[in-house]
Amino acid sequence: MTILHIDGLDLRYATDAGPAAALTDIRLRVAGGEAIGIVGESGCGKSTLLKAIMGVMPRNATITGGAIRFDGTDLVTAGAEAWRRARWKGIAMIAQSALNALNPVKRVGAQIAEAITAHETWPRAEVEARVAELLALVGVDPGRARDYPHQFSGGMRQRVLIAMALALRPPVLLADEPTTALDVIVQDQIFRRIRTLRGELGFAMLLVTHDLALVVENCDRVVVMYGGLVVEEGTVADIMAAPSHPYTLGLYNALARPGQRHQPISIPGRPPDLVDPPAGCRFAPRCPFALPRCHTEAPAMQVVSDGHAARCLRVAEMDTLRPTAALPETWEGPQP
Ligand SMILES: Nc1ncnc2c1ncn2[C@@H]1O[C@H](COP(=O)(O)OP(=O)(O)OP(=O)(O)O)[C@@H](O)[C@H]1O
Ligand SMILES: [Mg+2]
Repeated sequence: MTILHIDGLDLRYATDAGPAAALTDIRLRVAGGEAIGIVGESGCGKSTLLKAIMGVMPRNATITGGAIRFDGTDLVTAGAEAWRRARWKGIAMIAQSALNALNPVKRVGAQIAEAITAHETWPRAEVEARVAELLALVGVDPGRARDYPHQFSGGMRQRVLIAMALALRPPVLLADEPTTALDVIVQDQIFRRIRTLRGELGFAMLLVTHDLALVVENCDRVVVMYGGLVVEEGTVADIMAAPSHPYTLGLYNALARPGQRHQPISIPGRPPDLVDPPAGCRFAPRCPFALPRCHTEAPAMQVVSDGHAARCLRVAEMDTLRPTAALPETWEGPQP
């Protein structure tokens, strides 16, 4: 049932200021066919997590602990060759700001074909048939395989990148903000297509986005990240009905909603310094509900209900804190 199991993953970046703890003790089980949304502000480690799963970390990154089990193999200990075999055929990725990833001087069809021939030794006719099939699958006229990327709109280029990612029918798709560069109408078309494709092909998806609304529409579960930690996780229904970490409450407030009387509230302050993170809860310096002990005790994940957990010492009081969190003045208090 579990196709991908991230178990206690720690990752550091070497920086001039010292090692930065970009991922700390990440635990995540992905079931076959499941869609998980990963949300959080800029810099919380979303792309780092996807790159680590894909085994395409920058040179200054080191996995210092934990496992990434795919199909029963721990890729971290199995090493580069196992990762190379899993990549694209097992786990495919649409990278952040990938719209310029296509080679401008190569025909689109040839680039999709390369995504196949890099891993498979199929006869040419079969590759060509597959390219046409993939283009049709993502809603691009297969007759356009001979066009160059500049002849395509941004939305069509993004469809081509999805086709390339799905070329070898991977059971896991990692999608890092696949539509942020596109307008909302095109974004909507692409996600409708992704939903259809998931229905037909049954791949699991990790979708990274800033946009909780996209997660609600496209995912089964949500993982909220803050400062390299998972701070809340649960089903979409659980997280929408009973968000249980003050950070999630803040993200929720930052959503513009129809009928909302006030402006979306933003969370004041900035995410933590990962070279020297706060001693207690990493969100405490920005949290309107922080108690003195929140600044010294690092909370573990606390169970809210079956399958729903939040990394907050005050999780049991959340039902009473939630209404306060919805008020703009709550977030205007003195922030250090
Ligand atoms: N190669 C690197 N070297 C050092 N630090 C890095 C490197 N790449 C990312 N970081 C830092 O690691 C943290 C996590 O970065 P990451 O790109 O994973 O965030 P993100 O959640 O994807 O943000 P965004 O929403 O802006 O894409 C940030 O503090 C970032 O500055
Ligand atoms: Mg990112």
